[in-house]
Amino acid sequence: MCSAALQFAPKEGMMSSVRLTRSRSPARARSMCAAASVSTFLILSACTATRGETSRPGPAATSRAARSLERRVESRFDRLTIAHLPTPLEEMEVLTAELGGPRLLIKRDDQTGLAFGGNKARKLDYIMADAQAKGADVIITWAGLQSNWCRQTAAAAAMMGMRAILLLSRRDDSPVVIDGNLLLNAILGAEARILPLGTDPVEVAQQIAEEERAAGNTPYVVGVGGSSTGFDMEEPLGAMGYVTALIETHNQAEVRGAVPDYVVIPTGSGGTQAGLVVAAAALRAGTKIIGISVSGSADAIRRNVARIASETADALGLRLSFSPEDIIVFDDYVGEGYGILNAPTADAIQRVARGEGILLDPVYTGKAMSGLIDLVETGYFDPDDVVVFIHTGGTPAIFHYGDELLRYIR
Ligand SMILES: Cc1ncc(COP(=O)(O)O)c(C=O)c1O
Repeated sequence: MCSAALQFAPKEGMMSSVRLTRSRSPARARSMCAAASVSTFLILSACTATRGETSRPGPAATSRAARSLERRVESRFDRLTIAHLPTPLEEMEVLTAELGGPRLLIKRDDQTGLAFGGNKARKLDYIMADAQAKGADVIITWAGLQSNWCRQTAAAAAMMGMRAILLLSRRDDSPVVIDGNLLLNAILGAEARILPLGTDPVEVAQQIAEEERAAGNTPYVVGVGGSSTGFDMEEPLGAMGYVTALIETHNQAEVRGAVPDYVVIPTGSGGTQAGLVVAAAALRAGTKIIGISVSGSADAIRRNVARIASETADALGLRLSFSPEDIIVFDDYVGEGYGILNAPTADAIQRVARGEGILLDPVYTGKAMSGLIDLVETGYFDPDDVVVFIHTGGTPAIFHYGDELLRYIR
């Protein structure tokens, strides 16, 4: 059975801390967070760290903070080793030279290993540990038709001998083509249900969970992207994967004698950005996290990320609180909408493919890279800044966009 390949990461005193954390209800977590937000020094520490207004501690202090944060995560949360970690951190020398600085690096989270990789593998390390601990035998979740989250959840469920039920929403009534992530879901054996237009996936998920329970099964319901708490995920476990991702990135950058001034990512359901924001504040190394929206308005995403980040800090026992003003999001690169390819995105995909030999996707990383390139060209960064772009995956969607991409490729 493949699940034998999964192991808990070694940790000290894990069991007692895990029990302690799990006994805290989400309602209590939220009220603790609200209490924290009125404490001035807590707010100050979060704001200054995310805005980079503090003087930077030396590398030794950052390493100590990183070790302490890592121990904090390990002592509170179970984690599987689904993701292949650490993922490489590479220089983008050609792009850096073409744009004339800043120094651009790329963190290859497209190489996390789970069914073509992507950011969801880090999230699933924590989420599937929770599902397993709760005795789940079927995972129920939902998202858009070409969801990377659903594909990687289907793969994780397959590894662990669980079933996956995926509720997929379409954006219009055009014929459904089984390619890209949809094809992979089928190969992975997931039960993918394409919902009629206008159906509420949450209602359907709850109804299916009831049916599964009545049939004697143990469902684990988790919301889109594994970012927000709710249903069977009582703690922000997806974001936890990106708390540890920033620690990993800092450690790798340190070996290169660099400290990231900025980390740039595509942002959607907010868990990735929230985890990074919490780690950046805890490390106090002045790293700013820039989310490039692929769909929502900057205001809505800031609110969502601040909420998840505050819950994450709270779940870790960190005395930090975040407000939307602490979160950096650009929504200037969405174009005509989520998943709608545009010329800057296709240009960014082509440029990074031909300059660096790295494939970006048309929905998330291509759009985010078009944002990063524009921010460099419009002088947002200093030439001596160190900027890490996290490649969050999504590459199977390239094959869904084949014809459209070809219209732009020169
Ligand atoms: C490839 C890719 N990058 C980035 C994101 C955004 O991550 P988050 O939902 O945590 O904001 C997603 C979400 O589905 C994704 O599939």
